[in-house]
Amino acid sequence: MIPDDAQSRYFTENPTPKALSKHEALVREFVEYHTSTDPERRVALVTSGGTTVPLENQTVRFIDNFSAGTRGATSAEYFLREGYAVIFLHRQYSLLPYSRHYSHSTNCFLDFMDDSGEGGNVVVRQEYQEKMRRVLEEYQYAKRNRLLLLLPFTTITEYLFELRSLATCLQPLHSRALFYLAAAVSDFFIPRDRMEEHKIQSSNVQDGKKTGDGKQLLINLDPVPKFLTTLVSQWAPEGSMIVSFKLETDPSLLVSKAEQALHKYGHDLVIGNLLTTRKWEVVFITKDGEERWVRVPKAKRSRSVSGIEELVGMADKNKRLDEEVDLNGGTVREGLEIESLIIPELAALHADRIFESGSKA
Ligand code: PMT
Repeated sequence: MIPDDAQSRYFTENPTPKALSKHEALVREFVEYHTSTDPERRVALVTSGGTTVPLENQTVRFIDNFSAGTRGATSAEYFLREGYAVIFLHRQYSLLPYSRHYSHSTNCFLDFMDDSGEGGNVVVRQEYQEKMRRVLEEYQYAKRNRLLLLLPFTTITEYLFELRSLATCLQPLHSRALFYLAAAVSDFFIPRDRMEEHKIQSSNVQDGKKTGDGKQLLINLDPVPKFLTTLVSQWAPEGSMIVSFKLETDPSLLVSKAEQALHKYGHDLVIGNLLTTRKWEVVFITKDGEERWVRVPKAKRSRSVSGIEELVGMADKNKRLDEEVDLNGGTVREGLEIESLIIPELAALHADRIFESGSKA
């Protein structure tokens, strides 16, 4: 399939990211290392976090979105547990696998320590020892075995250049590559030729209209071409598995929008999620028309400041809510992460896919 004009123009009219050639070299080396040390090794490209839309070339202001990278960083850990090597293409400074447990402002690492060690040494507090030991061991294992490659992006343009290049670098993996597109990708951007070079001056807003004492800044955004079709048909290795996410806020739209996305792009799986319930439930929409809900049982749900638990089940037209099993005697210490349910299922689907492509070869 030939990419449409808008897609071709996107890559010629927007600047190539400075880090791209370095990232390509790192990915080639990563793929080469894993294909030579373990020819069975599966590799997941996990995208994570939000892309920015700069308003100025020397960027002071930009449009951003809510994504903290929790889905991507958490999923990466579970892919590693399933034996994958992971390329983690993430928004710079968003959450990272392993350090996510301690780095976020709501989980400040300083709160996990005190100075009760010998001679006043700083140590991890007793109640956190067990979990931190496990996180540390997994982190060190991934590092020692070169299983995790971290690659940052910031803008929508950087993200799209990276996705295109890295997908082609994964060609040697054939069906052992899996794309897990959890990043929250901007749908609109300012093309380079319309972007201001310097900081937009509030006193000199060209397109401004008088509104009382102030002016309005009118921003004219173009749609970002949808690249998923081209990823599927051209960039990604033949036989690889491609999983995208669909985010909605209106429960009545989620399933139909996810189905439309799967139909339009022709890839393997769309995972639908609602902004308000995404930590507790997702829906798998598969090519064979299946709509399958994956849900954290009520008693194992973590608290979420922004989530609305009453909306769990609202997007499920059959309202097949699970039996509410109290798995923890009513005292939840730590919630079950929904990614611990999603990733093993994907790994099993991917294993079937690899088996099928092997038997076709
Ligand atoms: O990071 P968290 O706070 O944990 O939040 C996780 C999440 C809600 C961001 C994540 O679970 C999620 O839903 N990510 C995808 C959100 C999104 O961008 O949805 P979309 O409907 O805009 O795009 C759907 C798919 O189309 C995406 O997988 C993307 O790869 C693709 N796309 C998007 C834009 C574009 N120009 N081209 C594309 O191909």
